This record gives sequence, structure tokens and C-alpha cells, in this order.
Amino acid sequence: MHKDLKEVLLTEEQIRGRVCELGKAITKDYAGKTILMCCILKGAVTFYADLARTIRGPVLFDFMSCSSYGASSTSSGQVHIRKDLDNDVRNKDVLIVEDIIDTGVTLSMLLPLLKERGARSVKLATLLSKPARRQVEVPVDYNGFEIPDAFVVGYGLDYAGQYRNLPYIGVLREDVYEK
Ligand code: XMP
Ligand code: MG
Repeated sequence: MHKDLKEVLLTEEQIRGRVCELGKAITKDYAGKTILMCCILKGAVTFYADLARTIRGPVLFDFMSCSSYGASSTSSGQVHIRKDLDNDVRNKDVLIVEDIIDTGVTLSMLLPLLKERGARSVKLATLLSKPARRQVEVPVDYNGFEIPDAFVVGYGLDYAGQYRNLPYIGVLREDVYEK
């Protein structure tokens, strides 16, 4: 385990198993359709790449970058689009892929935006969800794991840009971000 972590919350094996289950459900639900799979950069990259490979059927890749967090570990409550999707979403079946739903602020803005642009359907897949922190309700179609209110890193998730390459998810020690 990395020295800055308090504990490992989800091992590589646990993540792999759950991602496979989500991929199977998505494959079944989207049978006969092409999925426009939208990755929310950067945190969702690892989950996105693993999830995409468990889905059978046509998938298009696209990427979007939004910010509601700086180097801080709490939400600013504001969302800004830094990089938009390349695809026109009109009449497409969009699957948004997120790393974690925390307050719900980011997704409560993105879901209506993509619907306004004319997507045929917009669904949401997230690896993690922290229900205790929710400020805005967001409909999560595919949820990997519900986790307690702790700041987690690894498997794409960062603190100040670090720890994204850890293959598992761990709880960051408080003294790492309090100093
Ligand atoms: P909201 O609050 O809009 O935020 O649902 C979602 C985004 O907040 C970030 N986030 C975290 N990032 N460890 C992280 O590395 C966490 O524990 C954590 N909680 C929230 C993340 O970028 C997510 O997309
Ligand atoms: Mg994120």
C-alpha cells in the first residue's frame, strides 16, 4: 500500500469484478444500439478504458473535461467546461462515464445540457458514489460502489494531480491534505 494511504478501500480484484458486471448490464441494455461513451476527464479515464473493454457491441469514444475542484479536496459548487465533446450528440445514445458522484453538482448540470443538445438518451455510469455527500439528486444508472464520506484516490482519482496511477482505490491520510 502507498505510504500516503490510510487503507485500501477497493482492491484491483474487487474493481475488476464489479466493472465486468457493469459491462454485462450495459451490453444487455444497449443491445442493437451504438453507445456514445463520454468520459469525464481526467478521473474517469481508468474506469472508462476498463469498462469499454467489457462492453460487447458498437461503442464510440468521446471525452469531456469539467472542473468543480481545484487542488482542494472539497467541491466549489461551480462547474466549468474546459474541453467539450467532439461529437454532435443529436439522436445519439449517450453514456456518461464518471469516476465518482460526490455532491452531484457536476452531473446535475451535464445531464440536462446533453439532453438539451438533442441526445436520444443520456445515462450515467459511475465507478463510485458517496451518497452521504449528495446536495443534488442525480439518477445513476450504473453504479460500481457506494462508499463512505472519505477522500479517496487511485484508479484515476487524484489529490493535487497525484495517485491516479495506483491500480486500487485507497483512503488518503488526512495529514496529507491538511498540511
Ligand atoms: P460532484 O461534487 O460535482 O463532484 O459530484 C464530482 C467530482 O468531484 C471529485 N471528487 C473526488 N475526487 N477523490 C477524488 O479524487 C474523492 O474522494 C472525490 N470526491 C469528489 C471528482 O473529480 C468527481 O468527478
Ligand atoms: Mg472527476
